[in-house]
Amino acid sequence: MYSGLKRKQECLSKLWGIEMLIIVTGVPGTGKSEVSKALSKLLKAKLIVLKEIAVKRGLVSGYDEERSAIIINERKISSALRKEMKDNGTYIFETHLGHYVDKNIVKLLVILRCNPKVLEQRLKKRGYSPNKISENTMCEYLDTILIEALKNGFKNKIHEIDTSRKQPEQVAKEIAEVFKGKKPKVYGKISWLK
Ligand SMILES: Nc1ncnc2c1ncn2[C@@H]1O[C@H](COP(=O)(O)OP(=O)(O)OP(=O)(O)O)[C@@H](O)[C@H]1O
Ligand SMILES: [Mg+2]
Repeated sequence: MYSGLKRKQECLSKLWGIEMLIIVTGVPGTGKSEVSKALSKLLKAKLIVLKEIAVKRGLVSGYDEERSAIIINERKISSALRKEMKDNGTYIFETHLGHYVDKNIVKLLVILRCNPKVLEQRLKKRGYSPNKISENTMCEYLDTILIEALKNGFKNKIHEIDTSRKQPEQVAKEIAEVFKGKKPKVYGKISWLK
């Protein structure tokens, strides 16, 4: 690419925080909150948590009685994020809806994976209902988030990590290395149906 144009693009990217956004996504219980906190410390990056900005940014469109969970308007997530990303620097977005973010503002989409048997235990410990546990473990079995992310054009930005036997700090370290280009991005290698 013409170098002047490239420089201009880089300046714009910095200005908007574009290319500096890491998404940490995954099925509930895969460790997003723990890993995001550790990663934010490691990279000195600002952490944005979907659950924390949902009300403030008007993302809540209803309440799902059956799931006992708020319903998020996915179409509003990217504009809410842009409002949160006012300063330069690296941002981390912790969400289970990472695949709905505008891919153009994302540098890296990390999908945390977890062996469904381990996930089941983690969700049981949290006191989730059997329905909620089977719905979430099924999503994990079926690679649902990866499939959605691929559908939404994230192909070159995805990195998947199996967190089942790793401490959150270890997972965060791996993400930081991928973010800095020291390790290649990998996806599609995890299958729980083997
Ligand atoms: N690598 C890990 N090894 C063992 N336990 C973990 C690991 N990561 C997280 N946990 C535990 O699993 C549970 C779920 O972790 P966490 O709250 O970070 O998940 P989450 O993906 O953020 O869930 P949610 O989508 O509901 O916010 C917690 O009890 C946490 O302590
Ligand atoms: Mg969480």
